[in-house]
Amino acid sequence: MSRKFLKSEVILIMSNHNRDAEYTMGRTEEETQRLIEQSQLYDDVTRRFFLRSGIAKGMKVLDVGSGAGDVALTVAEFVGPEGNVVGVDVNPDVLKTAQARADEAGFSNVEFLAGDVRTLELPDDFDAVVGRLVLLYMADPVDALRHLATRLRPGGIVAFQDTELALYRTIIHPDTPLINQLVEWGLTVFERSGAHLNMGMELYRVFVEAGLPEPTLHFEAPMGGPEGWPGFEYLANSFRSLVPLMEAYGIATSEEVDIDTLADRIQAEVTTSKRPLLLPPHITAHTSLPA
Ligand SMILES: C[S@@+](CC[C@H](N)C(=O)[O-])C[C@H]1O[C@@H](n2cnc3c(N)ncnc32)[C@H](O)[C@@H]1O
Repeated sequence: MSRKFLKSEVILIMSNHNRDAEYTMGRTEEETQRLIEQSQLYDDVTRRFFLRSGIAKGMKVLDVGSGAGDVALTVAEFVGPEGNVVGVDVNPDVLKTAQARADEAGFSNVEFLAGDVRTLELPDDFDAVVGRLVLLYMADPVDALRHLATRLRPGGIVAFQDTELALYRTIIHPDTPLINQLVEWGLTVFERSGAHLNMGMELYRVFVEAGLPEPTLHFEAPMGGPEGWPGFEYLANSFRSLVPLMEAYGIATSEEVDIDTLADRIQAEVTTSKRPLLLPPHITAHTSLPA
């Protein structure tokens, strides 16, 4: 069910630049499903990332901003039954889905805690702290990482994956008016919500300013064009989650976005323009504390 924003909430969001971003995608059951869909498109990116970060059997790992639990479940596979995973999210509702999925998958070593990871009391002997698409919502990612590093044992791993939305400005092309319009709407709503559009490219600075050793970085993005590629539905569903905030900010109405036909229209434009659809690029950064 989509959620309308109260005028007072919007004024609060727009008037405070030093606070965390409003969770741009909203807090609905559809959004939880969208997170799961998103995870399937980025699953191989995240698995390659954990492999090169050194997430391994027997480790105790903290997953920051677990959402529907996909990253925590992937980590659980990496650490095996002899390791364990603690997932944290400020949204207790989404964690019910995460916990149910962990139980269903038979993981007895995955636990989810509701709270803000920057203030929640957590052990200080984790082997790794990981997070995907979470730093972009935090007012001060440097401060957050500095704090999270205190939850690690010496030699512990810090591994964060985040999106680089600002790069979308470079794909504007005269043959793709619909994509161009979506880029403009999407970037405007993220920017207005206070999210960091360039969090991917900022990861290097954030790691270094948090006092961490220089990270190893990678850049990846799913792209597609073939009929039936799930990326079309995923992008349309992302706009489904964005529409309430877009309406609240006066950026566009749901009639203008016309969600129900959006996936088909994007696919038709890709077919006509022969310009493949670029899904949000993700940048990964990992490092290890001194032993
Ligand atoms: C885009 S979702 C990503 C979920 C998951 N990491 C994934 O990739 O599927 C971001 C999540 O981070 C959570 N979050 C944002 N700030 C947080 C904080 N300070 N502490 C804990 N969770 C936070 C949000 O509630 C949201 O569920």
